[in-house]
Amino acid sequence: MKQVAPAFLSADIWQAAAQVQALEEAGCRYLHLDIMDGHFVPNISYGPDWVKQLRPHSKMIFDAHLMVEEPDFLLDSFAKAGADHLTVHVEAVRHLDRTLARIRELGMKPGVALNPATSLSLLEEALPLADLVLVMSVNPGFGGQKFIPYALQKVERLADIRRSCGLDFLIEVDGGVTADNAASVAAAGADLLVAGSAVFGKPDVAAAYAAVQQAANS
Ligand code: DX5
Ligand code: ZN
Repeated sequence: MKQVAPAFLSADIWQAAAQVQALEEAGCRYLHLDIMDGHFVPNISYGPDWVKQLRPHSKMIFDAHLMVEEPDFLLDSFAKAGADHLTVHVEAVRHLDRTLARIRELGMKPGVALNPATSLSLLEEALPLADLVLVMSVNPGFGGQKFIPYALQKVERLADIRRSCGLDFLIEVDGGVTADNAASVAAAGADLLVAGSAVFGKPDVAAAYAAVQQAANS
């Protein structure tokens, strides 16, 4: 079953607790947490302290996506904050093997993300080390952007590589996913579909989640 991971970045901070609870009650299993440092991406979001404060309020799988330079400095903090998945960008890490191994050692599932124009070939050796590969389908930094169509072919190629190498990492697609394109994103091979504005941007987040989740599994 394909899963939708609503991106907390698009939550209304005054309603965030109620929105997260409504999602959980609607059966949502993943919460996507976007961490931005104002350097790797031209925006700043929130850090491990927010994640730590959110942790006691939700049993969802916390899927943290670090869009930061030098993510190595933050790995321990996110482990302590209660992140379940921790994804770093291949463009921001110098020693990917070491970083992914450290994430695993800290008890989290290691993920690796690629910007839209970054080649899958950069991951060839690292794929067996990752539990999750995140394909960006917008240039990271902001919610509410339009899905970049060529990301679909990239997801298809990644799914082919996974099949031919006999690997089982999750394929996550992040950026511009809506109820209108979720079926094609899922058909291309995504297991986990991040949806920010398509869920948290709607007045009824539970209904919006259900619509994307249904489209992804149609
Ligand atoms: C973009 C973030 C995404 C974003 C998704 O930089 O990584 O997770 O919040 O939001 P939407 O679904 O609105 O593109
Ligand atoms: Zn993200």
